[in-house]
Amino acid sequence: MLYTMNDVLKEAKSKGYAVGAFNFHNQDVLEAILNAAEELNSPVIVQTTPPYIQNLGLEVCSVMAKELIKRCKIPVVLHLDHGNSFDLAQKCLVNGFSSIMFDGSKLPLKDNIKYTKQVCDACHALGVSVEGELGAIGGVEDNMVEGQSNNLIIPEEAQIFVEETDVDVLAPAIGTAHGIYKEEPILDFARLKKVRSLTTCYLALHGGSGLTEEQYREMIIIGINKINVGTELKLGWANTVKKAIEAGITEPMKIRSQCLIDVREIVKNKIRIFGSENRAQ
Ligand code: 13P
Repeated sequence: MLYTMNDVLKEAKSKGYAVGAFNFHNQDVLEAILNAAEELNSPVIVQTTPPYIQNLGLEVCSVMAKELIKRCKIPVVLHLDHGNSFDLAQKCLVNGFSSIMFDGSKLPLKDNIKYTKQVCDACHALGVSVEGELGAIGGVEDNMVEGQSNNLIIPEEAQIFVEETDVDVLAPAIGTAHGIYKEEPILDFARLKKVRSLTTCYLALHGGSGLTEEQYREMIIIGINKINVGTELKLGWANTVKKAIEAGITEPMKIRSQCLIDVREIVKNKIRIFGSENRAQ
């Protein structure tokens, strides 16, 4: 069933666990995410980015996602990740997304507030939740050119940003990065604590691939409610395809079946660590 971000994050915040927000790049990965969440009776967020919306086609992507979500018993949020314009936010709303991110993190604070608020006003009128970003989370995601180094969030600015935009979810830059970590990430837990104490909205962690169980748990204890994972699923899918081809398997149906199994296991492992198993209601 299709839910909004507020629906699934409310209990996560009050009970101290996080809901996984998994990026999908094709039907295999999307189905694997949904199957994992169904198997573990967990709420789940499925999300995709502007490059993949363009690659798949917005209508095809949303019809596929809505049809698969309709078959699920668990609560599922269909979320636009790193939306980059009001226009795309509107198109996703029309196509039935239940949650929208507007990423204005590269803009000056004043403009980030202005444009995030515009998206919030449009989405809230339809009961749809909105995520915003402050500070710049480094790395590269889905070939979107992003900052190479982290520009960490300033907690006092987070307070102003949340109050002025009325955003439902905030993605604070605290030292994680999108993609594969080339060196050990240094996570600024103290900064996250400060952001948590100055804001009331839900908090999302970006760059969730490649972190340790301890790092996830520590951030959930401090107050992270949503954890984004993309790269690990992409790599899982690609490794399965590679192994199949190396083993001489070229029938797409067979490769897809194995992708569904392998990616589902990666997602199940995250759901268990994030503590959302058996939280679907
Ligand atoms: P990773 O690809 O590093 O897991 O990050 C995903 C993400 O933050 C999506 O916005």
